[in-house]
Amino acid sequence: MNQRTLLLIKPNAVLHRHAGEIIHMIEESAFLMRDLKIMRFDRALAEQFYAEHLGKEFYPRLLDFMCSGDTIAVLLEKENAVRDLRKLVGDTDPAKREPRTIRALFAEGITENAVHASDSPDHAAREISLIFPHINHY
Ligand code: CMP
Repeated sequence: MNQRTLLLIKPNAVLHRHAGEIIHMIEESAFLMRDLKIMRFDRALAEQFYAEHLGKEFYPRLLDFMCSGDTIAVLLEKENAVRDLRKLVGDTDPAKREPRTIRALFAEGITENAVHASDSPDHAAREISLIFPHINHY
């Protein structure tokens, strides 16, 4: 069954003009774009989106980074979309990243890691409703 997930192309990747290549990789991997927008996180939305990381050592830097420039949010659909997008994105830890993943190609650091991909169907539903509140869930 088709599943939905959320991709964020983060400020460092937008600034350095990698969005087109990232979207090309997504389409080559058979994801269908169902919605897309260029947006800028404000503090309140970033705090809500990353609430699970509140109190972690990297949290303040993460919030500053996410609010530092434009983000491109893409609602994606595919069979096993959550699992397959995580695979294409690559690990948060640079040492564990497979070559040819989006982060292997475009991450500039552990925080400035080019993209975010929802890590479970439940988180995907929550994140999609925060970023694309008009979308109906199924
Ligand atoms: P993301 O997939 O958006 O989810 C949490 C974000 O926190 C992560 O990508 C990184 O941008 C940032 N981050 C910074 N340091 C770490 C860390 N040590 N572990 C996990 N995430 C981190």
